[in-house]
Amino acid sequence: MLLFQIISCPWFLISFLVPCYGSLQLGFSKLQRGHRLDRKLIQSFPELSFLDCVIECLVTPRCKSVNYFKGANFCEINYENKTTAETRYMESAGWVYSEKEHWPKELAGACSNSTCKINQTCKHKRYSEDKFFECVLSDCGIPDQNGIDLNATRREDAIGLHRRIHASCFDGYSQSGSGWLICQSNGEWKYDIVCTVLPNIALGKPAAQSSTKLHYNAANAVDDNRGTDFGVHKCTVTDDGDTNPWWRGDLQAVYSITSVRILNRGIDQHNTDLSDRLRDVTVTVGLTESDVNTPCGFFAGPGTASQLVVIDCPTSTQGRFVKISKTTEFLTLCEVDVFGVLVLS
Ligand SMILES: *[C@@H]1O[C@H](CO)[C@@H](O)[C@H](O)[C@H]1NC(C)=O
Ligand SMILES: *[C@@H]1O[C@H](CO)[C@@H](O)[C@H](O)[C@H]1NC(C)=O
Ligand SMILES: *[C@@H]1O[C@H](CO)[C@@H](O)[C@H](O)[C@H]1NC(C)=O
Ligand SMILES: *[C@@H]1O[C@H](CO)[C@@H](O)[C@H](O)[C@H]1NC(C)=O
Repeated sequence: MLLFQIISCPWFLISFLVPCYGSLQLGFSKLQRGHRLDRKLIQSFPELSFLDCVIECLVTPRCKSVNYFKGANFCEINYENKTTAETRYMESAGWVYSEKEHWPKELAGACSNSTCKINQTCKHKRYSEDKFFECVLSDCGIPDQNGIDLNATRREDAIGLHRRIHASCFDGYSQSGSGWLICQSNGEWKYDIVCTVLPNIALGKPAAQSSTKLHYNAANAVDDNRGTDFGVHKCTVTDDGDTNPWWRGDLQAVYSITSVRILNRGIDQHNTDLSDRLRDVTVTVGLTESDVNTPCGFFAGPGTASQLVVIDCPTSTQGRFVKISKTTEFLTLCEVDVFGVLVLS
């Protein structure tokens, strides 16, 4: 298959690369056919040859790798490579993946000696001996605003100038705005999303549980101590023989509860791991202490060590009490966070 038919060796390269074909050979031999690095895009370019795509990466300090779609001569340059973004590296028919490091930097011509900044790209005359280059702004950088979760980005999202990305807020934040981040021509993001940290309304509130083993009492789940080594830190535990254990927090006012998070126990200093005891856990809410039966959610588990289990309640789940229960021995909670909005009466 004549994938990259004629790799003409730019005449000026001869002086740097002896032999030129030999140096490019490394890059071609390490191509990952049928692969692509997803959602780490700086910029994409239609109608570019493969070598020009590689050069585009070489002249962009932020670029670490490229994806190339043969069928449409479509080039994508990425700000990570498959080592740093392992989970985003995937099979994708028709694509070729290549890493910047596998190509001789001399391919960038005059730009191989440029000192452009991370958010710039070096512009030069392709295939010419011209020593001239200039650094121009190319992207807005990786958004780092507090609370922004970039896992919601889409395939076409990019951080380059005039591009945009979709974002959402992490759990524990409330979101306003449409979720767009737009990279403006001045290299600054325009955020159409605001993530505001939600207060944990369970913190320091009264708590009770069905039974208590030793000193592992219900208040340990709302004491702001987020350690998960059971022996050292403060967690809750229900007593031996209690096969219908529950824990109940009193928010002391009625809230529209959006989510409940459970911080599971971790591996202790003796290397004991009992984190899988967190399973078949039901979370309910209620207006009175004796009737905490409105479903919020369920966690089938089994939990893993120090897992933060997030349970989202259906919209407009209202209550003052939050109950966490299961039907097997030993309910252990290292911390319980509850998020919600006060219901004004
Ligand atoms: C991938 O990127 C990292 C960080 O920029 C770099 O250290 C590494 O050498 C790159 N290439 C490979 C093949 O891991
Ligand atoms: C880059 O710098 C080196 C050493 O300073 C020089 O030999 C080489 O010719 C320069 N390359 C280009 C393309 O300007
Ligand atoms: C979401 O992104 C964070 C870092 O920003 C990462 O730690 C986490 O594993 C990601 N979650 C998923 C589901 O990809
Ligand atoms: C580009 O990066 C440089 C530092 O590398 C920084 O000083 C500058 O503010 C950045 N420009 C924009 C528009 O973010």
